Amino acid sequence: MQTIYSFSELRSVRASMHGSFGLIPTMGALHVGHASLVERARQECNYIGASIFVNPAQFGVGEDFGKYPRTLEHDLALLESLGTDIVFIPSVETIYPPGYQTWVDVANVTAPLEGKCRPEHFRGVTTVVAKLLNAFTPSKAYFGQKDAQQVVVLKRMVRDLNFSVELMVCPTVREVDGLAVSSRNAYLLPAERQAATILHRALCAAKEKYDGGERNAEMLRAAMQSMLKKEPLALAQYVSAADPETLGELDRIEKGVLLSLAVRIGKTRLIDNFLVGDQ
Ligand code: PAF
Repeated sequence: MQTIYSFSELRSVRASMHGSFGLIPTMGALHVGHASLVERARQECNYIGASIFVNPAQFGVGEDFGKYPRTLEHDLALLESLGTDIVFIPSVETIYPPGYQTWVDVANVTAPLEGKCRPEHFRGVTTVVAKLLNAFTPSKAYFGQKDAQQVVVLKRMVRDLNFSVELMVCPTVREVDGLAVSSRNAYLLPAERQAATILHRALCAAKEKYDGGERNAEMLRAAMQSMLKKEPLALAQYVSAADPETLGELDRIEKGVLLSLAVRIGKTRLIDNFLVGDQ
């Protein structure tokens, strides 16, 4: 596995690789969810590369940029064991050199949900992913369904800016009790870790209603809210039953629905989602 720190080195290494290339962009602190992306890429592409970059532009003021877990040695060992060909580990100055002033901004689908709670977040995500797609020129890029809105936003960007890459979306990996695997789970104290299962339980409560024939989206949002109220350590930021493409809140569900929620458990903010019905 080759470790690369600069765009110039990345371009020359990539130029020597012929055949399909799979990119797994990450912020490090790799877990089994990331491993599932790497494994899928390994099966589907001749060459695979990962990036590790904790992107300051996607963290708001007062968010966890400073304390975001950094586990580089472990990450490199994992990527190597999974057969990764190259790993790009740029510094902040490499991605955003002095004088940097160019941003990629997707409009409508960034407005609700995470965008409302974290106003600059998606501008940071789309900008860094656009830079990585330009530099790696991958055939496929792999993302987790766990960040459902990120996937919708990135698909929009790829279409709008004519990137010739296929975005591959891999299922959310869960702990045995249903908690979605996330680097931020490391922040949870033992009692909070127990409480955090409430996100999955709320989604299951709404899905149960859907499976029972309920098509009034407000009833699904209410099912999530009332489950969340049962957990004293949980503070809901939003619950949503939205159109999976536009992310607008639905009244009546005709086809599919994206059920999603953001919840504070103590100081930790967690998100999760289910994509339900025909897409
Ligand atoms: O999903 C993530 O880890 C990040 O948002 C990404 C796509 C690597 C961009 O920094």
